[in-house]
Amino acid sequence: MNTDIVLSVENLTKYYPGVVALDHVSFGIKRGEVHALLGENGAGKSTLIKAVAGAIEPDEGLIHIGNDSYGKISPKESREHNIEVIFQEFNLVPTLTVAENILLGDKRGKLVDFKQMRRIAKELLSSLGIKIDPDRLVRELTPAQQELVEISKAIAKDVKILIMDEPTAPLTMHETELLFKIIERLKKDGVTIIYISHRMEEIFKICDRVTVMRDGKYIQTLDIAKTDREELIQLMVGRKLETDYPVRDCVKDETVLEVENLSGNGVSDISFSLKKGEILGVAGLVGSGRTEIIRVLYGAEPADGGSVKINGEAVHIKRVTDAIRLGFGLIPEDRKAQGLFLNMDIKWNIVFNNIRAISKHGVVSEKKEKETADTYCKKLRIKTPSLSQKAVNLSGGNQQKVVLAKTLAQNARIVIFDEPTRGIDVGAKQEIYLLMNEMVEAGKSIIMISSDMEELLGMSDRIVVLSEGKQAGTVEKENFSQEYILNLASGE
Ligand SMILES: Nc1ncnc2c1ncn2[C@@H]1O[C@H](COP(=O)(O)OP(=O)(O)OP(=O)(O)O)[C@@H](O)[C@H]1O
Ligand SMILES: [Mg+2]
Repeated sequence: MNTDIVLSVENLTKYYPGVVALDHVSFGIKRGEVHALLGENGAGKSTLIKAVAGAIEPDEGLIHIGNDSYGKISPKESREHNIEVIFQEFNLVPTLTVAENILLGDKRGKLVDFKQMRRIAKELLSSLGIKIDPDRLVRELTPAQQELVEISKAIAKDVKILIMDEPTAPLTMHETELLFKIIERLKKDGVTIIYISHRMEEIFKICDRVTVMRDGKYIQTLDIAKTDREELIQLMVGRKLETDYPVRDCVKDETVLEVENLSGNGVSDISFSLKKGEILGVAGLVGSGRTEIIRVLYGAEPADGGSVKINGEAVHIKRVTDAIRLGFGLIPEDRKAQGLFLNMDIKWNIVFNNIRAISKHGVVSEKKEKETADTYCKKLRIKTPSLSQKAVNLSGGNQQKVVLAKTLAQNARIVIFDEPTRGIDVGAKQEIYLLMNEMVEAGKSIIMISSDMEELLGMSDRIVVLSEGKQAGTVEKENFSQEYILNLASGE
């Protein structure tokens, strides 16, 4: 055996009803490397690492760690090999503090010195450059902060192999940089890292090798230095792909929405207008209030002041149902918590906000339900054996596509996308951009919050920049530049 290899899988296979999630996958991870796992939504990445962590039981194949081999490994055995996993779904206890979450893990039945625990957590967080108070309850943290706590929790143990499933999905640029510094440091300490991400530029920045998976199968492992974006995309999707932002010219001289001095939810005095056929980008760092003010506009949080006009008429949006009635649709940032009924099937999730349109005399037409769901499943290429699959059984990215489908099926006139392509693979990203274009070309208007600067610049007609709960500026397309927007966002 190659002693450079610290972890390998051999013919690893996992079946779910109607799906081969892992199909005889074999490859190895070298000691001390940062190894990327790449593949479209539903390719089997999360399933693979769940098998290694002992969270699921493979049906065939072996997992080799050091000199030990397992047909199935228990979570305890996996941890005994100093493997730590940061899963795509959060695993923190919301009602405990940051410090407790970081350090309580293996203290069950043991005496706990809370004072010492707080001190250790504080030291760890500050040594990692993470500015979070160890005494805060996890449920009060933003998804980005929770992710940073997850990472600290893994590092607090004597981790030798750290597996991260889309760690940067909830992070913005600033925190992503912080994570990369942490990864560099871990690498220096000899930690091996397996890194899953849909953001290609990250893979090129921090990884040494990359393994591509497609439809549950192992495709190829390459040295990062010897490949490029185009080759990787082609291996992932199995076809050639346009990756440019589609051009359009459809902004009408007709204002559909005017927001003036809107305040609430910690944000104050935000003003902007939106034209028919326009995509308005919203930029800002975490904590700038992007999501917060949009939730006020959508009636999910109370407004403290300001006015909203639709087609020139003043409207009062007190609750979400008002917003929906007025033609708003929102694709939320925290899709699992706010967007999905995990235990209901895909069909039901997609038509949920649209029940009226597919009902007659109060009875839901099953045929229409199926047709609508089917249309969007195909459009967004949602990977599932059937429309009756429960949402909980879909891969992370495919769950996000269901939330997108749900809002799209709602047929809103003003559609708000909060991080539209987060966690979504390159192929589907392109589909979503095309769909957004279709929408504005058909006379709808879009507000798009995004942390992906490239996407923001590529898709928006104008960009509103927020900074620390206030409006820092509005940038017209001819003045678009990453530097200018970042400067505004950081309050310069
Ligand atoms: N518990 C389950 N029951 C049924 N099918 C499942 C279950 N878990 C995963 N699958 C299916 O297995 C396949 C692989 O899913 P997996 O979560 O590994 O994908 P992934 O590569 O992590 O995708 P993403 O990028 O979207 O996170 C998908 O088709 C998914 O629907
Ligand atoms: Mg996944």
